[in-house]
Amino acid sequence: MCGIVGYTGQKQSFPLLLDGLKRLEYRGYDSAGLAVVKESQVESHKAVGKIEELQKDIGGKDIPGSLGIAHTRWATHGVPTEENAHPHCDCSGRIWLVHNGIIENHQALKDQLEKEGHEFQSETDSEVMVHLIEKFYQGDIAEALRQALYKIEGAYSFVVFHSEEPGKLVAAKKGSPLVLGIDDDGVIVASDVTAIIRQTRNVIYLEDKEMAVVEGGEFHILNWNNQTRNKEPQKVSWDLEELEKKGYDHFMLKEIFEQPDSITDSLRGRVIQEEGKVKLGGLDTVADRLSQVENLDLVACGTAYYAGLVGEYMLEEYADLPARALVASEFRYRKQLLDKGHCLLALSQSGETADTLAAIKEAQERNVLSLGVVNVVGSSIARTTEAGVYNHIGPEIAVASTKAFTSQLVILALLTVYWGRMRNMALAMGQRITQELEELPQKAQETLKTDKRIREIAQKYYQVSNFAFLGRKYNYAVALEGALKLKEISYIHAEGFAGGEIKHGPLALVDKDFPSFFIVPQDSVYEKNLSNMQEIKARGGPVIALATQGDERVAQIADEVVYIPKTLEMLTPILAVIPLQLFAYYMATFNSTDVDKPRNLAKSVTVE
Ligand code: AGP
Repeated sequence: MCGIVGYTGQKQSFPLLLDGLKRLEYRGYDSAGLAVVKESQVESHKAVGKIEELQKDIGGKDIPGSLGIAHTRWATHGVPTEENAHPHCDCSGRIWLVHNGIIENHQALKDQLEKEGHEFQSETDSEVMVHLIEKFYQGDIAEALRQALYKIEGAYSFVVFHSEEPGKLVAAKKGSPLVLGIDDDGVIVASDVTAIIRQTRNVIYLEDKEMAVVEGGEFHILNWNNQTRNKEPQKVSWDLEELEKKGYDHFMLKEIFEQPDSITDSLRGRVIQEEGKVKLGGLDTVADRLSQVENLDLVACGTAYYAGLVGEYMLEEYADLPARALVASEFRYRKQLLDKGHCLLALSQSGETADTLAAIKEAQERNVLSLGVVNVVGSSIARTTEAGVYNHIGPEIAVASTKAFTSQLVILALLTVYWGRMRNMALAMGQRITQELEELPQKAQETLKTDKRIREIAQKYYQVSNFAFLGRKYNYAVALEGALKLKEISYIHAEGFAGGEIKHGPLALVDKDFPSFFIVPQDSVYEKNLSNMQEIKARGGPVIALATQGDERVAQIADEVVYIPKTLEMLTPILAVIPLQLFAYYMATFNSTDVDKPRNLAKSVTVE
């Protein structure tokens, strides 16, 4: 889950590399480094911590040279130290490499290379590759890389140069993402487009087992058998503005407040309200097979998995389609009873999550139709699945996912109408759901007005050490998501529970220091939720309730109440999660944690 970037061309590479690293920092930020070459002289800097620590180490000076590579790290093998930071170089100090991913057979290779006299500076798996390239080097760094690739196992992307092959940069990809940015005066290679679009919008996504050789302004895409791959650049639509904070203190807060727009963007051109139908162009190529689907597996990780859990309820209740949400890392290792009526729907913001990608490949090996709901255009999951739906919400920079979650729920609701109208859903129900969907942006705007109230509540509770989140039916998944948001950015222990489950154990935790956030809108399980709230109050547990506007009964039980607008039961999670996102945000700011880049996490998890 590291971020890698490289540049060769007419321009000075150092400023481009630094800007690229800042854009990629959300991918991993426990250490960073770069190496720039000028007339065979390589200047390299590494530092533990965020990019600003690297800048301190460089001390504000310029580093001349029009070819360079850089890396921001999320440690997998070897703790965050200067030695373990990238770039790594070979014994001669002439071959330099940055790597994102994991080399699974690194220990065996390292043992062999040490026997052959190679000396290692770090504990990383990555350094093995630069010595392997050194072993095969006969004057052509591209050929040496190609031969070395045959020796390693795992998921990876590399960018490499040899200090005595001026202007030549080589890169290779298998599993981990890699994109080329093609500009008139050079080529930039990076883990994702956020590090490129400041320079150019013309990009080429490398496929698995592809290499790129860039030299003298020319670039060649080859497969690992040295056969040329003709690939035309495609244009990236995101604008730079979307990469800035727009006056918000954090990307997370900006992305929370963007949700009325991102919900609108996810709905745009997809609702045919008068027919109670939806149009999802990305599924046209498999439309005939979708009507044959008898079982749907919604597979994802983290927040995306919780969106899948809401989708499971929607599809079963409104489309009569048997559905189950499954954690991707479990899906790929458990015995799967998949038959021809099965379909796998993968949900992923980044489109690069390794476990989700592997689950798709597992299903494809079983000839199961695979679809994707993905935000990052051109990402691995988007290119691996047979068809799918893009979120169209622009980049999500903060590690804690917010607008991607509500957009995933909107698209799952669209898919519910899509499949429902293919099956038994009546015109009237299709019209009801699509009408409510189109009212969501305005209701989300209304819900954001709870910001001030939520901040007051967070100010009261930010010193607690434990928190419970409770919800039933569609909002059980929202309780899980609320707990995840609080955990991942405030580091406060939190747990999400199905409301009906607390009597079966968790109620023992409840006392005056164990507050509960209760999602209790006026829906089909409202009364059940009220009695669960009273059970907690009876044990002295403080209760914060999320209720439907105008509901006075909840206010008689709860210590604090936050009100959200009324909508269809199946759509309440899209509004109910917003105050929970804000709550986690303010709990984190009051605890002074790094909201956008929480410790030990990264935005896209590209290794198992
Ligand atoms: C959510 O806030 C986390 N960043 C994490 O759980 C995330 O949802 C998970 O890693 C899945 O990522 P994806 O949607 O990019 O596949």
